[in-house]
Amino acid sequence: MSSTRASDHYLHYSFGLFCLILSLVCSTVQSEELQILTKLKSALQKSNTRVFNSWESSVSVCKFAGITCNSEGSVTEIELSNQNLAGTLPLDAICQLRSLEKLSLGFNLLHGPVTKDLNNCVKLQYLDLGNNVFTGGVPDISSLTELRYLHLNGSGFSGTFPWKSLQNMKGLIRLSLGDNPLSPSPLPSEVVQLTKLDWLYLSNCNIQGAFPAGIGNLRELINLELADNNMTGEIPEEIGNLVNLWQLELYNNSFTGKLPVALRNLAKLENFDASMNYLEGGLSELRFSTNLVSLQLFENKLTGQVPPEFGEFKKLVNLSLYTNGLTGPLPQKLGSFAKFNFIDVSENLLTGPIPPDMCKQGAMKMLLMLDNKFTGEIPANYANCPTLTRFRVSKNSLSGTVPTGIWGLPKVNIIDIASNNFRGPVTSDIKNAKSLWQLFLGNNSLSGEIPADISGATSLQSIQLNNNQFSGELPSSLGSLSSTLKVLDLSHNQLSGEIPKTFTSLRLTQLDLSYNKLTGPVPESLSKGSFTGNPGLCSVGKGSVLPPCPHK
Ligand SMILES: *[C@@H]1O[C@H](CO)[C@@H](O)[C@H](O)[C@H]1NC(C)=O
Ligand SMILES: *[C@@H]1O[C@H](CO)[C@@H](O)[C@H](O)[C@H]1NC(C)=O
Repeated sequence: MSSTRASDHYLHYSFGLFCLILSLVCSTVQSEELQILTKLKSALQKSNTRVFNSWESSVSVCKFAGITCNSEGSVTEIELSNQNLAGTLPLDAICQLRSLEKLSLGFNLLHGPVTKDLNNCVKLQYLDLGNNVFTGGVPDISSLTELRYLHLNGSGFSGTFPWKSLQNMKGLIRLSLGDNPLSPSPLPSEVVQLTKLDWLYLSNCNIQGAFPAGIGNLRELINLELADNNMTGEIPEEIGNLVNLWQLELYNNSFTGKLPVALRNLAKLENFDASMNYLEGGLSELRFSTNLVSLQLFENKLTGQVPPEFGEFKKLVNLSLYTNGLTGPLPQKLGSFAKFNFIDVSENLLTGPIPPDMCKQGAMKMLLMLDNKFTGEIPANYANCPTLTRFRVSKNSLSGTVPTGIWGLPKVNIIDIASNNFRGPVTSDIKNAKSLWQLFLGNNSLSGEIPADISGATSLQSIQLNNNQFSGELPSSLGSLSSTLKVLDLSHNQLSGEIPKTFTSLRLTQLDLSYNKLTGPVPESLSKGSFTGNPGLCSVGKGSVLPPCPHK
């Protein structure tokens, strides 16, 4: 403690002495810098912020909030990110700060142009103007040869980026230019020569054309994001040089060809997304990426089997492979290790059973396996999966009865098991499904009565039980879903008895009770529904195709 104080005192003393000797120089520099910061403050005076409260001329600039000085009392850092700053940036003034190494103004509301004065900030090592609302282009910054961090992402920059300026930034570690409406450009050679880069964010900024093999130069890369561009051709084998890669985002481009064989070198890869491309061939090159946490390759033309090794991935929590041409079974241990929470393998040609343990770690939210050729029963484990919000397995060849607890999952929004071979009842524990909006059970062989307790699922908007073998009477309790329920399709079943009077309080946009064994009058307020194929129904109003009810 005491030694710290002593050294503080010494620093203070020596600084004071320095300024005493060179008092003229010091005070000139300090008053210049005060003037510059005062200009900055007044340019941003409309900001809804308190950060400038400490910026008073009675105080040393080095004590201003967000300002750091060097031992000579000269400003080296302006750190005012995320401060609600609004206004245009007086770079003509700021870049007169001769020692400025860091200018951090990200996540503000700065508008107007970034002027070519920026090029005078020659000592800058860190520049963050990202996440603002600037207009116009990024000026030439070829003098900023000391830059190590350059964040300009998501800030409204348009026009041609001064790619040539990057030639001089040999020490650049992070480059983020994504989410700007830049003029179309190929991935420039200046970028793939920045061999120190560990972070390259060029998503959604109009990069087009081929993926240059030179990417393999950037061996330090941890994060490479080129998503939402117009890139074409194959992913180069040289990507395999990037052995430190943790995240690779290539989605929504026009890449073709197969996943490169060299992908197998990327053992540290945790997040890989190349969805929405035209990739073909198989997934086997990903067998060795055992650290994958999230794998997304939806909407491609991938074929072949899901590698059995995926079932052993210990960190995998998210697998999205929908709309491809994948075949064969899913690994049965899939998703059983980490806190797996999402699978969407819909619209493939997958066969075999649903992997039973994807909720084993208690985090499963969405199980989406629509439109495949899955067989077997719904694994009973999912009845004990209270985190599930979507359970959708429609259009498969699944069979058996639905495990009872599925109906009553407390957080489930959608239960969609339509177009399979399920049989057996819907059980009354459906009353526990307080979050259920949509119940799609059509085109199965489900039977038994519709449980009166279904009205306990008070969020229901759509009930579609068509083309099954439900029998017995319509539960009058359904009428209590009058605020929420919009669609009720019970067509093509064996339902009998009269339409309950309570149904008149429903505000349905679609009602289909056709092809059942219902009898008696159709209440006038429901007459827009479909009732054909129920010979026992009659109409109390006029203009109905149903026969009129006999007068009492
Ligand atoms: C975008 O810029 C911000 C700073 O404005 C930075 O923190 C963030 O990491 C950048 N995003 C990416 C993906 O590089
Ligand atoms: C794909 O990227 C383009 C920009 O290249 C963008 O306009 C479009 O919205 C993106 N599509 C999706 C589905 O994100």
